[in-house]
Amino acid sequence: MTGAYCRYSLSYFNLFTRFSHLFLMENLLATSPETRPQPLNSPAATPVLRLTNIEKVYQTKTIETVALNQVNLTINRGEFVSIMGPSGCGKSTLLSLMGLLDEPTSGTIEVDGRPVTAYSDRELAGLRNLKIGFVFQSYHLINDLSVVDNVEVPLLYRKGMSGKERRQRALTALDKVGLSARTGHFPGQLSGGQRQRVAIARALAGGPEIILADEPTGNLDSVMGEEIMDLLLALNRQEGVTVVMVTHDEQQALKTERVIRFFDGSQVS
Ligand SMILES: Nc1ncnc2c1ncn2[C@@H]1O[C@H](COP(=O)(O)OP(=O)(O)O)[C@@H](O)[C@H]1O
Ligand SMILES: [Mg+2]
Repeated sequence: MTGAYCRYSLSYFNLFTRFSHLFLMENLLATSPETRPQPLNSPAATPVLRLTNIEKVYQTKTIETVALNQVNLTINRGEFVSIMGPSGCGKSTLLSLMGLLDEPTSGTIEVDGRPVTAYSDRELAGLRNLKIGFVFQSYHLINDLSVVDNVEVPLLYRKGMSGKERRQRALTALDKVGLSARTGHFPGQLSGGQRQRVAIARALAGGPEIILADEPTGNLDSVMGEEIMDLLLALNRQEGVTVVMVTHDEQQALKTERVIRFFDGSQVS
């Protein structure tokens, strides 16, 4: 076994132990055959995600929080939608439900027209890995994995995908975000904007239908934030990826097709 291989193994071990909150559910491997996203020539109003009468209540020992209250929302294929609203109004909760990372207290979530209510954790993990890419405010990269290894992480859960194909997909995704010259760098050697590009490449590598981005420019200065916004817009327009983005930035939101505003767990416009 080569030293490099040992290092990978160790790093992946680190990944599981330190970032289990992010990836644990993904170890339930996708069992369905892999499919690329549909081309964008399908009719504009094909629902890719539909939320019906969604309620999410968080119950702790002392307090019950209604994070989402009777939310009805449809995201169509190819759309770029912004979600706006004050802190604590339920935006991240909404994204975690859309991303099948959490279950609603009541209501129905449909992905590509199919309700996921009855899906097992394993099936949900498979669907999530196949169709959804996540981008977070603080990047959530693994510091001791190189850029290309970070991008490969979600592909490790694709049953039957060879190491060669993983690497090829990661390099293609890095090329799309303009980071071909940084594949061997480590996150600590990159600017915030570059780190977010790596995170976007990681989200793209699996060929998702949907990218869910939770305040993706929240940690960036305005110039880098604009770069990331332009990249997401380009991916939406050129690659046909559906994007749902939480943002506090009105200017960014105005660049997207639709702005959905939340207040206190409810959609207000
Ligand atoms: N895991 C949790 N347990 C208990 N309460 C939570 C949890 N996650 C979020 N909340 C509460 O739900 C509400 C919505 O939170 P969140 O979706 O993170 O809002 P936003 O992203 O709009 O700032 C807040 O009142 C928050 O405190
Ligand atoms: Mg939030």
